[in-house]
Amino acid sequence: MTLAPTFSRITGTGSALPERVVSNDDLAADLATRGIETSHQWIVERTGILQRHIAETGINTSDLATQAAQKAIEKAGIQASDIDLIIVATSTPDYIFPSTACLVQASLGNQTAAAFDLQAVCSGFVYAMVTADSFIKAQRARCALVIGAEVFSRILDWNDRGTCVLFGDGAGAVILQASAEPGILAAGLHADGRQQHILCTAGQVSHGQVTGDPFLRMDGQAVFKQAVKVLEKSALDVLAQANMTVNDIDWLIPHQANVRILNFLAKKMGIHPDKLVVTLDSHANTSAASVPLALDVASRDGRIQPGQIVLLQGVGGGFTWGSVLLKV
Ligand code: ACO
Repeated sequence: MTLAPTFSRITGTGSALPERVVSNDDLAADLATRGIETSHQWIVERTGILQRHIAETGINTSDLATQAAQKAIEKAGIQASDIDLIIVATSTPDYIFPSTACLVQASLGNQTAAAFDLQAVCSGFVYAMVTADSFIKAQRARCALVIGAEVFSRILDWNDRGTCVLFGDGAGAVILQASAEPGILAAGLHADGRQQHILCTAGQVSHGQVTGDPFLRMDGQAVFKQAVKVLEKSALDVLAQANMTVNDIDWLIPHQANVRILNFLAKKMGIHPDKLVVTLDSHANTSAASVPLALDVASRDGRIQPGQIVLLQGVGGGFTWGSVLLKV
């Protein structure tokens, strides 16, 4: 007897943002009190960011992840107890351990799902989607909750204007279920550890103390060049796997790092700017949360319609990158 192939399909999306909104002007005024100069004009011209959401003290990654998960569960029309795999992509976990995924499992009232965190920085959600897809295809899971969630505001050096203006906090989630129809059509994951220094938070907890540098550091121009170089190739590779071309893409959802990277990528690939989902203006860069946040926004506002082809792309520290091509 031949078993029918198992694919995985997104059946629900959800997202969560902290209540507190900090505009560029608010941020510039706050930095000015410490003698650091920036402006709305500089931030918007160089990055496309207008505002970011910042979590209040006491709100952690697991809180935002749980809220996003609850919305995805509701949208998928399932019960939390139906979930048999939880993966949280994050670089800002609540604790060193237990994993944020275990905290989310408890908050949702699920007692049976396998749960673990995955760390691939801004590529984390795409890495987590491919991992969950592989579990489902191997028939080790049937209903996965895949989350990207971050409180990057906690690892920013608020005295470094070159980085602190770029990031925000948030979470996005999807329910990925086994299906006879794809679903995830093609995917590719990549890393180049030689580029570890261009984007890193190289601190550690050791013998009761933080050693090294606990703040995010970035060589912005090196990241820019690397991102545009790898994302186009990754996109073309997954399209070729699925026997598709750029013309088949209805929506391109790259990691929301910088609007100049997004526009450059779309232009290089010959994708009309109207097919680009951009949430960077209102969310800033939320690292692993940026792609699922954008996917949820564009699904809920009706842009993404059933049957359409969506390309998700992550890129970030490590250096890591990857793409997931899906039919929604
Ligand atoms: N406000 C005002 N001036 C600033 C600020 C600021 N917030 N930040 C830097 N500057 C100044 C610098 O001090 C420098 O001044 P100087 O010429 O007097 O020395 C000048 O602006 C230019 O600085 P650069 O760092 O060269 O600025 P650049 O044009 O490269 O823009 C940016 C910086 C936006 C980060 C750019 O490099 C970029 O887009 N990089 C892509 C990386 C990215 O988006 N990273 C996000 C996270 S990574 C990820 O998610 C994959």
